[in-house]
Amino acid sequence: MSVLILGAKGQLGQALKSVQPAEESVIYADIEECDLTQSDAVSTYLHAICPDYVVNCAAYTAVDKAESDRELCYRINRDAVQNIADGLTLLAKDKPGLVPRLIHISTDFVFDGTSKRPYLPGDEPGPVSVYGSSKLAGEMAALTTMPEQVMIIRTAWLYYTEGANFVHTMLRLMAEKPELSVVDDQRGSPTFARSLASAIWKAITRDRFIPGIYHWTDAGEVTWCEFARAIQAEAVERGLLTREIPVHGITTDEYPTAASRPAFSVLDTRKLEQLVGWSTTPWRQNLGIMLDEVKANQN
Ligand SMILES: NC(=O)c1ccc[n+]([C@@H]2O[C@H](COP(=O)([O-])OP(=O)(O)OC[C@H]3O[C@@H](n4cnc5c(N)ncnc54)[C@H](OP(=O)(O)O)[C@@H]3O)[C@@H](O)[C@H]2O)c1
Repeated sequence: MSVLILGAKGQLGQALKSVQPAEESVIYADIEECDLTQSDAVSTYLHAICPDYVVNCAAYTAVDKAESDRELCYRINRDAVQNIADGLTLLAKDKPGLVPRLIHISTDFVFDGTSKRPYLPGDEPGPVSVYGSSKLAGEMAALTTMPEQVMIIRTAWLYYTEGANFVHTMLRLMAEKPELSVVDDQRGSPTFARSLASAIWKAITRDRFIPGIYHWTDAGEVTWCEFARAIQAEAVERGLLTREIPVHGITTDEYPTAASRPAFSVLDTRKLEQLVGWSTTPWRQNLGIMLDEVKANQN
């Protein structure tokens, strides 16, 4: 079986590599190998590789920048997904017997955040940002073009040992500043990219492919402020930070950003847990694993 990972240099791409099953034949590609916004190049690339599975982790993920960079955001989050789906559809026609499947990664930001319970995959989306709207448009592009061969997996608050993310930002700010104020009225589920990567590999290697929309995050929910305090506590315990600083909770209104964000974006993950036969892990446990790796990388 041949698997192609797109957006390989990003957080999730690296996480997929770190837990790649030894028996799989996997090609990792990022923009240097194939710019996904170029439709002809995408089709040519897919025809050269003939993958059984494509996992699309490539995305425009700068949520605030997207508000003033709408065109590029849509080119990557919607048009590139259309290019992949078109390329795979053409490939299936050109290579009888090959049934290429797409696992496309999306986001909790497709929701408006007004739900009083964790969002189910079938709940009505209502993005409140350019990024969220563009990701929803990408989902629609894939689902419309190859409905029988696409799994959309939405995740949230993703972080990895390598890469730019909230955990690394907090570690840096907590080392530099005497105190910190962090938004305390947005709730979600921090997700270690490797846990999502493991779920994706289980879906592929166990051939548990049933088309549709799924959710995957780590288990439990917190506000960004609660997450920041947990990061500090775990980091101090490991000697990654030498002292604790006060971390104050503030409201979203007190921390204006270019993009609006859902106040509540906890996702109900049961559908994918059942599909892959594996349960999500408590977020704090995975945070500890990540920080252990950060520590090991320092030594
Ligand atoms: N990060 C989060 O908190 C979060 C939360 C929910 C959902 N998600 C979703 O999870 C997925 C993985 O996120 P991530 O954090 O791993 O993203 P990431 O670290 O930003 O990685 C995305 C990768 O895609 C590449 N890319 C961008 N434009 C491309 C193009 N035209 N052709 C080929 N590759 C291109 C990027 O390259 P450059 O770096 O050169 O641009 C980067 O290597 C995405 O679908 C994202 O929307 C993320």
